[in-house]
This record gives sequence, C-alpha cells and structure tokens, in this order.
Amino acid sequence: MNLMITGGAGFIGANLVLHWLRHHPDDLVVNFDALTYAGNLGNLEDVKELPNYRFFHGDLRNALEISKAFSEHNIEAVIHLAAESHVDRSIHVPADFIETNVTGTFNLLETAREFWGDELSKHRILHVSTDEVYGSLGSSGKFLESTPYAPNSPYSSSKAASDHLVRAWHHTYGMNVVTTNCSNNYGPYQFPEKLLPLLINNCTQNLPIPVYGDGENIRDWLFVEDHCEALDCVFHEGDTGETYNIGGCNEWSNIDIVRYLCRELDKELNRSGADSCENLITFVKDRPGHDRRYAIDAGKIKNTLNWTPRHTFEEGLTKTIRWYIDHQDWVSNITTGTYRDYYKHQYG
Ligand code: NAD
Ligand code: TYD
Repeated sequence: MNLMITGGAGFIGANLVLHWLRHHPDDLVVNFDALTYAGNLGNLEDVKELPNYRFFHGDLRNALEISKAFSEHNIEAVIHLAAESHVDRSIHVPADFIETNVTGTFNLLETAREFWGDELSKHRILHVSTDEVYGSLGSSGKFLESTPYAPNSPYSSSKAASDHLVRAWHHTYGMNVVTTNCSNNYGPYQFPEKLLPLLINNCTQNLPIPVYGDGENIRDWLFVEDHCEALDCVFHEGDTGETYNIGGCNEWSNIDIVRYLCRELDKELNRSGADSCENLITFVKDRPGHDRRYAIDAGKIKNTLNWTPRHTFEEGLTKTIRWYIDHQDWVSNITTGTYRDYYKHQYG
C-alpha cells in the first residue's frame, strides 16, 4: 500500500512514521509536510534513506501540491495529522488554524475524491483529531463518541470543523473515513511549546515553569507510542464512518503533573533543597477560555478493537524524560530564533 501520512515531520506524525516503517515494511510511507515551525525532518533522520520512505514537501493550503503528491506516488490511503496544533498560538493567530485545519482538510478530501473517483470507497482516510472538540467537562463524566461537540478555542473549533467535513464527505460521497479523537499526548519529539517538554526544557535551563491560572485544570495524558498503536489499529480494523475516542484513563491536574515531573527531574538532574525543580514553578496569567477538564472514555476502542495502552504513565514519563535529556541538541536546535520570539510574546 502507498500510504500518505500528512504532518509526518511533527510530533505525533514522526512517531507514527517510525511506527509504520517498523511494523509495515511492505508499505510505502509518503510523508507530506509543509515544514512549519513544528515540522522537523531531523525527527526522521534515521529512516530518510529507507527505500519505502519518501518525503514530499507540500502545503495542504495548496490543493495542487496535494494533487501532485497523489499522482507522483499513486497514493492509496491517507492518515491525516497535519494541523496547526497549539491552543496558545491559535489565540494569537487564529487565521492560520482556519487555513490549515479547515481549508487544508477540505483540499485533502477533494483531492482524494477526485483522484480515487469511482474507487472512493476502497481507499481509506483516517482523520486524526482531538478530544478538545467536546469542550470542557465538570468534575465528573467523560467524553464519549456521542458527546455533543462544544469547542471553545480557535484550535478546537477548527479541528471540530475538520471533523464535520470528514463526516460529511463520508455521508454524501461515500468516502471511506474513520476519525479518532485523542487526549493529550506526551513523548519524544514534542515541540517544547507544549506543557511537558516546555517544563523539562525549562528545568534543564533553570528557567521558570509557567503554570496557568490556579493549576487545577485537568488533562488526560497518553504516551505517544500508545496513540500510534491505536491509530494503526483503527486504520486497519475500524468501521467506516465511525469515530473512536483514544485515551489513557490517566487524569492529572496541571499542578500535580508539574510537581510529579519536578520530582522525577530532581532525581535525573541530581537536584534537591533550594536547587529543586519545584522552586521554578511560577503561577502566571490564565489562558483565555481555558478548558477546565478533559477525560476520555475509551470503552469503544477497547471493547470493539481490543486496544489498550501498553505503557503505564510512569514508564512513558521515564522514557520521555530520558529522551529529552539525551537529546538536548534536538531541543537547542529548535529553541532559537522564532521559538524565542514566540516565548517572549507568550510569557513576557
Ligand atoms: P505538531 O504541531 O507537532 O505537528 C504538525 C505537523 O503538521 C508539522 O510537521 C507541520 O509542519 C505540519 N503542518 C502544519 N501545517 C501544515 C500544512 N498547511 N500543510 C502540511 N503540513 C502542515 O502536531 P502534533 O502534536 O503532532 O499533532 C498531530 C495531529 O494530532 C493534529 O491534527 C492534532 O490536532 C492531533 N492531536 C494532537 C494531540 C497532542 O496532544 N499533540 C492530541 C490529540 C490530537
Ligand atoms: P498544552 O500542552 O498546551 O495542551 P492543551 O492546551 O492542548 O491541553 O497544555 C496542557 C495544559 O497545561 C493546559 O491546561 C494548559 C497548561 N499549560 C500551562 O499551565 N502552562 C504552559 O506554559 C502551557 C504551555 C500549558
């Protein structure tokens, strides 16, 4: 199979490309990526020469580039991850999110529809989305696939719009689609604008750890390799037109996860007392419209497709911390220039 993975140079995309090449060596993987600030081909250095891997430098906002990639590589299926993905950036520059997440998804669906023509139902598109489309939970309950959409940020609303397009292309044109809505991921190759890698980087640099508001917002954390296994499973086994929630049943308040990570980092970095990473915790102004709680009910994927996460939180976190400490060059290569401008704008 010739499989296109969009956004394969980003965090989850790179992990998925590596997963796919390891587990499906007979497939050709075409990584379609615009290489925005979040895309980094260094993530795929180890596989760039493999005969079953190709990089296509293309932008979803340009339908002709998608079309060229389809024809050049005779694309037979797509896993769609490319997106603008950071809530804080979406608050500063929402237009980028509409253009890539909404118009870009539309361009992809239309290109695939034209390219596959009468054979549309034989070719699958897996659309990778987020639990944030469901909005914010109170202190109880979890997101089910049937939970009504109630997105609150420019990011989540643009992802919700893309989910609706994918759904409509299935119902109207018979496109063979599956959609996944996953909780917060963590792991290697995550850009250090997101909470966990930002925290690890700031601790190693002795910089303040910014915690928004009262730190009591809750997120449900999943190790990225478990997410990739779930995507593989949904791609191969999921029923057409269905959506699947993916999550680790692993809820943490931000302040608790920050303190937990600080303790783990103290051990790794040999810190204690006045040097402890916990002393870097700094409460800062809250994010506008900050969702209070996310939690996934992953019962459907567990019961129908037999997927459960393989890593405990402790295992995933230990692997992640070790990876960032061992890959300080990777971090320092991307925390220069535009990252610094972003950081200054976001945190002052
Ligand atoms: P990321 O920001 O790390 O990577 C996004 C990738 O998309 C980058 O390589 C970037 O260059 C590429 N890209 C951006 N705009 C593009 C465009 N116009 N054309 C082509 N490529 C473009 O994102 P991520 O965290 O890896 O997330 C991947 C997907 O998973 C997204 O769709 C996101 O909504 C979804 N998701 C992420 C999480 C999470 O915790 N990170 C959780 C659930 C779902
Ligand atoms: P983030 O990693 O941006 O993911 P998302 O907003 O998609 O859930 O943030 C995770 C949580 O951490 C979220 O509640 C916001 C909070 N947060 C901070 O408290 N400080 C920070 O510097 C960042 C980036 C996030």
